[in-house]
Amino acid sequence: MTEKVAVVTGANRGIGLAVTQQLAQQGVRVLAGCRAAERATALDALAKQGLPVEVVALAVDDRGSLEALAEGIRTRFGGLDILINNAGVALDHWQSFFELSPDCLRETLETNLLGVLNCCQLLVPLIQAKGAGRVVNVSTELASMSEMAMGSTVAYRSSKAAVNAMTVLLARELEKEYPQILVNAACPGWVNTELGGPDAPRTPDEGADTIVWLATLPDDGPSGGLYRDRAVYPW
Ligand SMILES: NC(=O)c1ccc[n+]([C@@H]2O[C@H](COP(=O)([O-])OP(=O)(O)OC[C@H]3O[C@@H](n4cnc5c(N)ncnc54)[C@H](OP(=O)(O)O)[C@@H]3O)[C@@H](O)[C@H]2O)c1
Repeated sequence: MTEKVAVVTGANRGIGLAVTQQLAQQGVRVLAGCRAAERATALDALAKQGLPVEVVALAVDDRGSLEALAEGIRTRFGGLDILINNAGVALDHWQSFFELSPDCLRETLETNLLGVLNCCQLLVPLIQAKGAGRVVNVSTELASMSEMAMGSTVAYRSSKAAVNAMTVLLARELEKEYPQILVNAACPGWVNTELGGPDAPRTPDEGADTIVWLATLPDDGPSGGLYRDRAVYPW
């Protein structure tokens, strides 16, 4: 069987690192996105253990870095099997809607939403070249309309709600011509990472589980959905 190739964005720590390790343990070659080479220590350690992990320079807000990556993948592998849009930031905290600065929203959207657009526009054509594959957008339960609460993370929630919309729109765009390219969004739960903070009850490995499950769905699996704990989660 030919080796599957995945790109994971924001792979150098937290949930992205756990996703990278779990996919690599299943024999997937992971091109692990890291925007600063000096932050790749944990990824280098996975590679040293013999796992098929390669660090690649990838900033989701830099289309130039993505174009170079896409070109390299096309030359080396002829296409891509899995794209995990994991990189994300949470820049606003507990504050009133009226306190949110437009700059904070702009900066959040740049990574969380435009980053997903950039990666999908430049890397999904490589999945199309193979005719089958998986795209997983890492979302959050905080972005579900039914879970919106007053005065909390307006920029973060709005950016991820837009990622949810983009998940469905991309899935619908691909489903006729490419029924074996499955595009889904995942909620990892509240995870103990730099973003989630030390009080979060889940480990990065637990947060990665549904993401990896979606990345390795069979060809007749679902597309255009939001999942948590391997089950459909309400938008
Ligand atoms: N932790 C939670 O409780 C939780 C809950 C729901 C959803 N999520 C989502 O899960 C994903 C991963 O979060 P995490 O908790 O693992 O966060 P984290 O530990 O803060 O890691 C975030 C990762 O994203 C990378 N990143 C940020 N901006 C980037 C950019 N412009 N280009 C490329 N990489 C960039 C970071 O790279 P650097 O090291 O270079 O900064 C880092 O690797 C995010 O999308 C987050 O919204 C997390």
